[in-house]
Amino acid sequence: MHKSKELVERIKKYESKPILLENFFSSEDLDEFIFWFQESLKHKNFNTTRMEDASTQDNDTTSIPEGDIKNKVIAKLSEKVSPWINKDGQRNLEFEIAFHANKKAYGIHTDSGYDPEEIIYKQGIIPLVIKPEAATTHTVLLDQKCYHSSSFPCVSEDEQAQQYIEHLNFSNVIADEEFKKYWHDSELRRKQMFGFSICHPFEWKLGNTIIWDRAHIHCSSDFQATGAQYKLGLMWISRIL
Ligand SMILES: [Fe+2]
Repeated sequence: MHKSKELVERIKKYESKPILLENFFSSEDLDEFIFWFQESLKHKNFNTTRMEDASTQDNDTTSIPEGDIKNKVIAKLSEKVSPWINKDGQRNLEFEIAFHANKKAYGIHTDSGYDPEEIIYKQGIIPLVIKPEAATTHTVLLDQKCYHSSSFPCVSEDEQAQQYIEHLNFSNVIADEEFKKYWHDSELRRKQMFGFSICHPFEWKLGNTIIWDRAHIHCSSDFQATGAQYKLGLMWISRIL
């Protein structure tokens, strides 16, 4: 079940351009988040791995803290970001958080929720660790939008997905020079990106963060193409209650 046209129109009224905040978190802030991530790893039920074999060296971990750790992370997060997304304090917001420790790039997707009644709002990412430190890595926000959560491995061949994506553009081709900054320029990668255009390539820098509408389709840059080996970030989503 997808969100109704009326609800999507309502959600759109809250939309804005991505908000880039540079030097926003101090190293003490980041250390605090990393500490909470490490604490959350001690709780088996908070953690899931992307690949089936948990023992593999290449595994990614998603940790969704609960209880006390969750409350602490959300308290700090909302204290910092609410002035940017709830300036007059008029909106009743709910946050959800997840730590993502990745050794492989995330594909093209949205985090727009599965609840057909949910008023999706903003989301953001807070880079915590990048290895090697000098490597560049990105979360690339695309111009296209989708109002329910989904992944889009090859949208040009997926007619069903095409119905739910706004601003798809199969006449647009990302220029070679631009493409190579973020992805390995292969036939497969080109095919995966076909139909999409770049809205904001957020380069991960410690202390920086970005806030964007949850309907924005986004993906990671290729680790192989940019020399990244590992990244840890705190991802948050919000809804209006
Ligand atoms: Fe995401």
